[in-house]
Amino acid sequence: VCTGIAFALHAYTNEGDNILIQNPVYNPFRTVIEEANRTLVMQDLLGNEQEGYTIDFDALESAFKDDDIKVFLFCSPQNPTGRVWHRDELAKVVALCKQYDVLLFSDEIHRDLIMPGHEHIAIGNIDPDFDNYVLFASPSKTFNLAGFNHSFMVVPRADLREKLDTFLHAIHVTGGQPAGYIASEAAYTYGSEWVENVNQVIWDNYQLLKTTVQTALPQVQFSDLQGTYLAWLDLGAYVKNADLKEVVQDRARLGVNYGTTYWPTRPEDTHIRINLATKTEIIETAANNLVKAIQEWQ
Ligand SMILES: Cc1ncc(COP(=O)(O)O)c(C=O)c1O
Repeated sequence: VCTGIAFALHAYTNEGDNILIQNPVYNPFRTVIEEANRTLVMQDLLGNEQEGYTIDFDALESAFKDDDIKVFLFCSPQNPTGRVWHRDELAKVVALCKQYDVLLFSDEIHRDLIMPGHEHIAIGNIDPDFDNYVLFASPSKTFNLAGFNHSFMVVPRADLREKLDTFLHAIHVTGGQPAGYIASEAAYTYGSEWVENVNQVIWDNYQLLKTTVQTALPQVQFSDLQGTYLAWLDLGAYVKNADLKEVVQDRARLGVNYGTTYWPTRPEDTHIRINLATKTEIIETAANNLVKAIQEWQ
C-alpha cells in the first residue's frame, strides 16, 4: 500500500506540494511524503481515550482553505486509534475535499478488520458525485498475505488513471506478481469465514487485554477498538514518557510501538500500541507482564 501511495504522490503532485496527515497516524505516512520531497503538513485528531477520537473539521477546513493542500492522506479505519469513521464524518471529509478541490487518498488497508457493532464505509460509497479520490487497500493484513507484495488502488477518475499509467509505464512497472493476483482473488472469494473468525479473535484479545490491565490498573486508558488489530492505550497515569521503555520493554519484556512514533509532535506522549493479531495465550502473558511491571514500578 505504501508503494501505491508513493506512486500516486509522484503521479499526481509536484515536488514541494503540501500533503496533509492527521496525527496520531501510521508513521510511514510521514516518510512516504518526505521521501517524495513533498511538504508534510500535520494536524491532530481531536479527543482522547475517554472522549473518543474525532476529526478536527475546523482545522481541516482551515488547512484546505489557507495552506494550499494538494492531497489529504486519510487513514480509514484509523491506525493507531482504532476508529472506524461514521458516515457523517466521511461525508464531511468528502464535502470539504469537494469544496476546496483537494485530492483525497483514502488508505483503507484495515477495511475488513472491523469489530462488532461497527461498519466500514468505503470512501466511494459516500457521495455519488465525488470522484476526486484514490482508495488504497490490500488483502495483506486481513489474510496475512503481505509476502505477496500485492495491493490495489481504486481510481475512479479516468484522467487520474491515465496519469498513473503514464507514470508507471515510465518507471517500468507493468503489473503485480501473478501469484499475488491469484492469492488476492482466492482470499476475497473464499475467505469470508476466515475474516469472521479473525475479527472474533482480535475482539476477544482486546477484551482480555483491557479487562486484565484495567482490573489491576484502572487508570490505564484504552481507545475504543472499532477496527484494526491494534490496541492503543495510555499508560501516562503510571509511567512517564522517559520511563516507558524501561517498564514496557526491559521489565515487562514486550515489543510494542510507542506513541511518539505516531505522534511526533508530542515528545512526552505515553501511549503504547499493542498488536492483537496473535494467539490469545500471548495476549494473556503480555497483559500479566505489563500489569506486574507497572505495579512494581509504582
Ligand atoms: C494504515 C496503513 N497503511 C499501510 C500499511 C502498510 O502497508 P504495506 O505493508 O502494504 O505497505 C499499514 C501497515 O501497518 C497501515 O497500518
